[in-house]
Amino acid sequence: MTDVDGVASAQANPTTRRLDDWDTARLTALADTYETPLYVQDLDRVRQNCARLRSAFPDADVRYAVKAHTGRAVLETVREAGLDAECASAGEVDRALTAGFPGDHIHYTAVNPPARDLDRVVEIAAEASGMTITLGAVDTLDRLTERGYDGRVCLRVNPGVGAGHHAKVRTGAAPKFGVPYDRAERVAREAATRVDVVGIHAHAGSGIDADGLEDHRSLVSRMGSLARSLTAPASDELVGGAVDDEFVTDALALEYVDVGGGFGVPYRADEPPLDLDAVAEATRDALGSLPGVDLAVEPGRYVVADAGLLLTRVNTVKPTASEVVVGVDAGMTDLLRPAMYDAYHPIRLLGGATGAPEPADRASTSVTVAGPICETGDVFCRDRQIERPIRGDVLAVGITGAYGYEMASQYNSRPRPAEVALAGGDARLVRRRERHADLTRVERDTAADADGETEGSR
Ligand code: LLP
Repeated sequence: MTDVDGVASAQANPTTRRLDDWDTARLTALADTYETPLYVQDLDRVRQNCARLRSAFPDADVRYAVKAHTGRAVLETVREAGLDAECASAGEVDRALTAGFPGDHIHYTAVNPPARDLDRVVEIAAEASGMTITLGAVDTLDRLTERGYDGRVCLRVNPGVGAGHHAKVRTGAAPKFGVPYDRAERVAREAATRVDVVGIHAHAGSGIDADGLEDHRSLVSRMGSLARSLTAPASDELVGGAVDDEFVTDALALEYVDVGGGFGVPYRADEPPLDLDAVAEATRDALGSLPGVDLAVEPGRYVVADAGLLLTRVNTVKPTASEVVVGVDAGMTDLLRPAMYDAYHPIRLLGGATGAPEPADRASTSVTVAGPICETGDVFCRDRQIERPIRGDVLAVGITGAYGYEMASQYNSRPRPAEVALAGGDARLVRRRERHADLTRVERDTAADADGETEGSR
């Protein structure tokens, strides 16, 4: 990766891995060995994505938004690649610790945090020193200090500008998130009388493409201005006659400005990838000069999305007047994104049905790929042109490494799928397929608890 003209490095670490770039024989062998539905996550690709982020943002703190994929093998890979962990819940903080992230590399972003999360996180913070808690409401600070917390705090700001691939994932202007921009300076200065305010944070939304970059830029520019105000003495306007000890009027010693994640990846074959270096440059420009204050970013999707795919087998093929309905063994319980956001995922026929011709030798047809869940929305695509599938074939659903397994459920009493991690030439089962017994485990444990049989065993 050190050649002069960059050609070899581009080949070694392309900006996007498309579904066609995966080795068909290897994927069908995985489907045969581990059965379907099967998530496949390539740790080498995760490493490459981390490397591209680190090289585009060499001076910034890059924090992986753990919610995109919390598998331990992924977390360990990300940690080894030098990224921090951004966690959305106490459960994610626990996972980050288990994967070996030290406290000062863990950032917990509390969104309307339930009491149980705060209890756990304050407990962890006491042991894993240096952890930062990002909060987006003044009363979250009250709830933390009631629990004896006096550590590092970052203030989440609502910048009033959002972006993202779907209305449900545009956070920047949604009142749910962060302290309103026009109150943020006062709130940060008030908080600084009680805890160590080390940063400010905002997140525009998820899946930002080239069109959304303008919004990202205006978010960054607003955060740059806010940071400049906070790192200077409070202006008379802000002091506004209030008693001085209600807030800190001196310059705050901010360590960083976190401008969130959201870098999109191209799901469609004809969609160009983001120019990450250009995004990084635009981000630095928009932030402006902030001596001694670091930039932080927290991508999730970009790290893991194109490192993963979902393998599923064809159960049934049903011609109808308008199209061919291809029933597969994965559904919205395994991959929710198409049902939830109308998200597009590429689909490729790998073949494999006994005695069937190779996909390349088949005519293409318009298909609806449907799952086994009793909901009309349980389809991965409609009217998609692919080579005609045959019962027993394997299909690959691409770019499912982010928010794929993470959003899986047991709805319709479907056990969650298995997952294998690839590294070099090796494949390792990292999450076994759930069994029917897993579906009733909590009820059985509850009944056993009531009988006193398992007391103290968990
Ligand atoms: N930081 C914060 C505070 C976030 O809320 C998120 C995502 C990220 C970072 C990472 O965003 P990313 O780089 O992954 O776009 N389930 C949806 C995405 C929800 C994202 C929620 N927050 C989907 O499948 O598209």
